[in-house]
Amino acid sequence: MKRSHNCNQLRKDNAGSSATLIGWIDSLRDHGGVFFLDLRDREGKTQVVLDPENQTLSELFPKLKPESVIEVSGEVRTRDTGTENANLDTGDVELFANGIIVHNQSKTPPFPLDDSADKVGEDLRLTYRYLDLRRQSNLNALKLRHQASLAIRKYFDDKNFLEIETPMLFKSTPEGAREFLVPSRLNEGKFYALPQSPQQYKQMLMVAGIERYYQLARCFRDEDLRADRQPEFTQIDLEMSFIDREDMYALIEGLLKTVWKETIGEEINTPFLRMPFNEAMNRFGSDKPDMRFGLEIQDFSEDFRTSDFKVFAGAVNSGGVVKAFNARGLADITQGELKHLEETAKSLGAKGLAFIKSEGGEWKSPILKFLSDTEKDILKNKLEVGNGDIVFFAAGGWESSCNILGRIRLETATLLEKRGKQKRDPTDWKFLWVIDFPLMHFDEDEGRYVASHHPFTAPVEEDLSLIDSEPRKVRGQHYDIVLNGVELGGGSIRIHQPDVQKKIFEEVLQIPSDVVKSRFGYMLESFEYGAPPHGGIALGLDRLVTILAGKESIRDVIAFPKTQKGQDLMTDSPGNATERQLRDLKVQSIAKDA
Ligand code: AMO
Ligand code: AMP
Repeated sequence: MKRSHNCNQLRKDNAGSSATLIGWIDSLRDHGGVFFLDLRDREGKTQVVLDPENQTLSELFPKLKPESVIEVSGEVRTRDTGTENANLDTGDVELFANGIIVHNQSKTPPFPLDDSADKVGEDLRLTYRYLDLRRQSNLNALKLRHQASLAIRKYFDDKNFLEIETPMLFKSTPEGAREFLVPSRLNEGKFYALPQSPQQYKQMLMVAGIERYYQLARCFRDEDLRADRQPEFTQIDLEMSFIDREDMYALIEGLLKTVWKETIGEEINTPFLRMPFNEAMNRFGSDKPDMRFGLEIQDFSEDFRTSDFKVFAGAVNSGGVVKAFNARGLADITQGELKHLEETAKSLGAKGLAFIKSEGGEWKSPILKFLSDTEKDILKNKLEVGNGDIVFFAAGGWESSCNILGRIRLETATLLEKRGKQKRDPTDWKFLWVIDFPLMHFDEDEGRYVASHHPFTAPVEEDLSLIDSEPRKVRGQHYDIVLNGVELGGGSIRIHQPDVQKKIFEEVLQIPSDVVKSRFGYMLESFEYGAPPHGGIALGLDRLVTILAGKESIRDVIAFPKTQKGQDLMTDSPGNATERQLRDLKVQSIAKDA
């Protein structure tokens, strides 16, 4: 080993002994001819002072640059009283250097490697990610991610799960997100698809008799990217045989309890709250409600069925709803903020965003003239409208009205937070299970039913008889685990009877039978050879660690994340393929610049 200690190891006890440290120069200081530097490695920092008698070192010092890698040998000394640094674990001592080897001189980094780098453009930081990762906050996030993974593996090992890897080269399946395709050289004209998740393989492992499988699984989805989405990400993926939903709730509650305890030392309360999908949508306008604050949505459909306000009455009479919530204390919203909210509502399909402000003892609103006194009374009472409040409305289809107000609810919470009128504490852990999702919903664009979760989800037993007559009413045995407005994970009890699975594919989801045969034939066949009842779940590891680390974006807890455009700026990927590669793969590029 080149070093005797790491940079966070020397203490008073070491005084008088010699030591060799190696690391990066964190800072350099010239105190009137006495030369100091802080040496940093993964574990921490140690102050080095150069022996002033040593001519070679004195000549070397002005040439040293921050972020260079050097090896320092010398004697450990306790610092003079009053010069200790309580902010450093090694702050009672310093290394009195009598020899320095420069292993690699650094150029001046393109941005400072301290917290001020947060203000630097993310693109620049991602281009030099190897420098960005030297920053303490990023290093901490990677350490936390490691601890979380370790706690997860230990938990599942204790519970008798086997960690099993499943293939990255899979094949295309028609449901779900867009896939990444990989041309097969050995099978001309054919393509693998990278797995969106190990869903089918893990079910095959259950048929294979594995009983308890888990994997920290890489997944790939060619989606539009956001703060909580990456094209490649990691799932805590698992599947179990011979269980029902209650077993899964208990297992995952135990897992999260363990992870919170082992990583950030926090005790979370179990069991978690459970809320049916319909209730989550009705009260919070979201299937992943943030329960840290109120601003709950209420229904006014019946109150406006015969209203003179045609926008509201019309919505109800064509089978829709009128919903509203009180953004308590936000009557001081600016014109600009209001406009932004309206645009948000419109981007979600609303025709407008009706509102009523209560200010200076009177109500103000462009829609006030349409409302009867009775209607105003109902609004006032149900929403407890007081001075300084503002009420927002959505009228239209149930799902879209819920979604619109759900989004406006979140945005108004942010506006209230800016004004110091409300706070969403990131460490107020409001976990909940969202359950009783509809098994499928009607996709207007495709003109057919699509699975709400995925087509392998089992219907709730007692709803099975409705599958032909009222498919919308059939609930799935699906559960989502939600934390503070983030969908951490989702899963379900699966179908394990071949006839039920075939019916769902072909009759309900209307996937043509030849497609079912080519894509899922092996699965249906496997169910003819003794398929155990089974179920599973997958949690987004990146999202989980982001929350634990108190970060904003999953990019902050991924070593080498992609940008919004799906690029790795450090390696400049994706890149071009050579003519030769394309020829071998029998693939033609139709991109303009290829
Ligand atoms: P689902 O599609 O709900 O379920 O995914 C499970 C969890 O994975 C995370 N996740 C993502 N994280 C980052 N970037 C993405 N692009 C991304 N997409 C999903 C989320 C999500 O809750 N096979 C099923 C699970 C099952 O039924 O067992 C599945 O993949 O946290
Ligand atoms: P209009 O009579 O169409 O001008 O609408 C009156 C007010 O209601 C305006 O402030 C619109 O923004 C709002 N509005 C219109 N349609 C809806 C709707 N579907 N949901 C909520 N507000 C709406």
